[in-house]
Amino acid sequence: MSAVPGRPRRPDLPLAVVIGAGGMGSAVARRMAQTHRVLLADIDGDAAQAQADLLARDGADVYTLACDVTDTAAVAALSGMAQGLGGFRSLVHVAGLSIGADDFSKILSVNLRGPALVVAALRPLARAGANAVVIASLAAHSVRPSQALLEVLGTPLAPDLADRVTAVLGAEKATPAAAYALSKIGLLEMARREAMDWGRVGARIVSLSPGLIATPMGALAYQKSAGKRAMFEQSPLSREGSMSEIADAVEFLASDRASFISGTDLLVDGGLAAALGYPRD
Ligand SMILES: NC(=O)c1ccc[n+]([C@@H]2O[C@H](COP(=O)([O-])OP(=O)(O)OC[C@H]3O[C@@H](n4cnc5c(N)ncnc54)[C@H](O)[C@@H]3O)[C@@H](O)[C@H]2O)c1
Repeated sequence: MSAVPGRPRRPDLPLAVVIGAGGMGSAVARRMAQTHRVLLADIDGDAAQAQADLLARDGADVYTLACDVTDTAAVAALSGMAQGLGGFRSLVHVAGLSIGADDFSKILSVNLRGPALVVAALRPLARAGANAVVIASLAAHSVRPSQALLEVLGTPLAPDLADRVTAVLGAEKATPAAAYALSKIGLLEMARREAMDWGRVGARIVSLSPGLIATPMGALAYQKSAGKRAMFEQSPLSREGSMSEIADAVEFLASDRASFISGTDLLVDGGLAAALGYPRD
């Protein structure tokens, strides 16, 4: 990439590919940009560019791409751009839809098939020390799916993923909330399943499950879900997590300090999953 006067370029830094320029994705991009060049991708290319402009003001070296993670051609373009930038050190997949998207099939597609496409497209570029962090959710820890469901969720690249999940789940249970939880369970499974392939070249893959985090998307979900408000009441620390607390965990998982952590999930929920097993009086 050629130099642009006034625009910081740091070819000496490794590349972090961050997917998602919403609340949490921007916080993650900002943190990763302290030690990496960043390729920031989002279906909303203008949102990604707006964040990149803010980060560039702080001296960060950021590239952007409009990329719908459910579109194989767009994901191939993402992989091509990462390759053109010399390959990546860290991939952080943050983008996702909330239950508020209100569409069973779309939530499964964006939250599970999309990250699976991105991971499959970037895996061939992974070298020793590279890592992938896929943002899942506390919701993945709230449901125990049947073996049959786990098997279907284990084939996230199937074009008819939503139909296959519905066939096992039953149409009456195919709600947006179910799609959200199952998509995130699928991400935990994906990190476990992919660890061997990433490990072959000395690379790692993990999922990270945020609990209730104060983001604009998270705030909207309170309006849609009485269950979420009830969960907040059970929170051991009596507060939501902040986006910088998620960025802290991502920064650790993407660093060499986490060099023996792969194929697992890190729950960053202030103890809420544990507390839900021990409700307050
Ligand atoms: N906020 C919370 O409390 C919370 C809790 C647990 C997990 N999460 C997860 O964290 C992630 C980010 O949450 P957030 O609050 O920052 O959400 P957000 O809505 O602010 O950001 C999501 C981003 O994803 C992008 N996006 C949507 N569809 C896309 C597609 N097809 N391709 C590429 N980009 C697409 C959107 O344009 C948006 O910029 C999500 O995966 C969410 O499920 C959030």
